[in-house]
Order: sequence, then C-alpha cells, then structure tokens
Amino acid sequence: MSVITRQAQQEIAGEKLTGRVAFVTGGTRGIGRAIALSLASQGATVAAGYGQNEERAKAFMAEIEETGATASIHQGNVGSAEDCRRSVAEVIDRHGHLDILVNNAGITADRPVLKMSEEDWYKVLAVNLSGAFFTSKVALEHMLERGTGRIVNISSIIGQTGNIGQANYAASKSGLFGLTMTMAREAAHALAKAGKLTEDSLNVTVNAVAPGFIETEMVETVPEKVIEKLRLQIPLSRLGRPEEVARVVHFLCADASSYITGQVWAVNGGMEM
Ligand SMILES: NC(=O)c1ccc[n+]([C@@H]2O[C@H](COP(=O)([O-])OP(=O)(O)OC[C@H]3O[C@@H](n4cnc5c(N)ncnc54)[C@H](OP(=O)(O)O)[C@@H]3O)[C@@H](O)[C@H]2O)c1
Repeated sequence: MSVITRQAQQEIAGEKLTGRVAFVTGGTRGIGRAIALSLASQGATVAAGYGQNEERAKAFMAEIEETGATASIHQGNVGSAEDCRRSVAEVIDRHGHLDILVNNAGITADRPVLKMSEEDWYKVLAVNLSGAFFTSKVALEHMLERGTGRIVNISSIIGQTGNIGQANYAASKSGLFGLTMTMAREAAHALAKAGKLTEDSLNVTVNAVAPGFIETEMVETVPEKVIEKLRLQIPLSRLGRPEEVARVVHFLCADASSYITGQVWAVNGGMEM
C-alpha cells in the first residue's frame, strides 16, 4: 500500500470526545487497540480491558501514554458476570464516570456443528454475547442515571451471513444484534420515563458495528488458501484494517451522533450488501 493511502487512513486528532471516559473490552490489541487509540485521539480518557495477555496490555499502556492520553488497563474475564461488574466498577472508581462502553472482546472456537463440544459452544457464547450483556447492564444503569452515554457492540459479518464451522461464533454475533436493538429501545424508554429525553439531549445510544474480515491475530489462524478465496468475495478486494473499524466507533460515540441508535454499521469492503 502506498504511503499516501496509509496517511489518508490515519486519524486526524480532534476534540470530539474531550472529557469523556471510554471503556473498551479487549482494548489492548487488534481491533480493540485501534478503537482505544482512535477514541483517545479525539480526547477521551481510555480504560482498556484485557483477558490474559498482560505483556500486550503493558505494551499498549506504554504506547497510549506516549500519545499524551490518559489511560488505564483492567484485567478481567468477560466470560464471567462477576468480572464484568467488577471491571466497570473499577473504571468508574478510577476515572469518576463512564460515558462510552465498547464491547469488543471476542473469541472463536471453530468446529462444524456435528463436532462442536458443549464447552466450545458455551465458552464462545459466554465471552462474545453474555460478556456484552453483563458489562452493558452495569454501564447502562450508570449512563441512564447521568442521562447520557454510548454503547457500541462489536459484532461481525458472520452474525449476518453465518459461516461454516462457526455456529457458536455466528450465534453470538447475531445475538448482539438483538441485544443492541433491545438495549437501544429500553434506554430511550427509560430516558423518556425519567423526563430526560429532551430535544437537545445527548441521549443514551446503543449501536452495533459488524466488521468483515479484518487483519488481526484472530484472522491469522485462517489458512492462506481460505483468505485468498475470501478476497475474491470482497468487492474491495482486500481485508480491512483495524483503524477502519475504529473510525466508525468513534463517529458513533460523538455527541453529534445522538440521533443514531439501534443500528448495525457494517465495515466489510462490500462483502455483504
Ligand atoms: N478480526 C476480524 O476479522 C473480525 C471480524 C469481525 C468481528 N471481529 C470481532 O472484533 C472483536 C476484536 O477482534 P480482534 O480480531 O481484534 O481479536 P483479537 O486480536 O483476537 O483480540 C481479542 C481481544 O479480546 C480480548 N479477550 C478475549 N477473550 C477475553 C475474555 N474472556 N475476557 C476479556 N478479554 C478477552 C483479548 O485479550 P487478551 O489480549 O488478554 O487475550 C484481546 O484483547 C471480536 O469481538 C471479534 O469477534 C473481528
């Protein structure tokens, strides 16, 4: 790729999110890292969650601090409801409040349905879907009290199309669509009931982003032959970059996006249309 194209992809620093606190689960590498950096580039204080990889979390902290942003890292298994509640409480304790939650942490455990174990099924559902539910539940309560907030759920094109060998992953990512729309409706309803839904309020919005195939470690496990076949199905003829997902997330988190809720935003090079 040419240098000019790379430069064009870089975020232009701004102040859209100054004063905002954002919690990004799985925020220390891959798509989550790009989201965290992108939110920070707009002035947000960023709390990045991670599961096990402490080395990567520390490297992320060093990287983000170099930009001058305020940040923190939080260990927790999003597959555990208890850890989800504790992590959100930890972020609020540390930074005073929470404006933005990005449910990004996710895993795969691929097998055809007939070979998928009970453990593989429940593990993926627990991290990808239940994790978003339990983390959002505490964050939403806090946001509704404050009358403003943004929740963005990172789903996947696989939730829209299904995929051979990914019944657990596809079900978890489709599940995020239903969760997103329901939370968007409930948030608006609760704000209206509390008299907080005024003409110019910032609102509590809930949206989903559905990336296509993005160059991260998650995709590194896919054999090159499969990637080649995938490329042929992508009108824009390449995999996406984490930054290309991140820019949609920071757009949705801006105050000016207060009229966008309950939607699915695809970032997939035209693979699904
Ligand atoms: N890459 C793609 O092509 C693609 C496409 C569509 C959607 N997505 C979705 O985008 C999200 C990020 O994907 P990615 O490609 O960036 O993945 P990745 O590179 O594998 O990173 C996953 C992140 O999630 C964290 N995580 C995993 N399990 C966790 C757990 N149980 N508790 C807490 N954190 C946990 C990891 O923490 P550690 O560093 O501690 O392991 C890591 O930070 C996922 O939800 C994925 O499904 C990805």
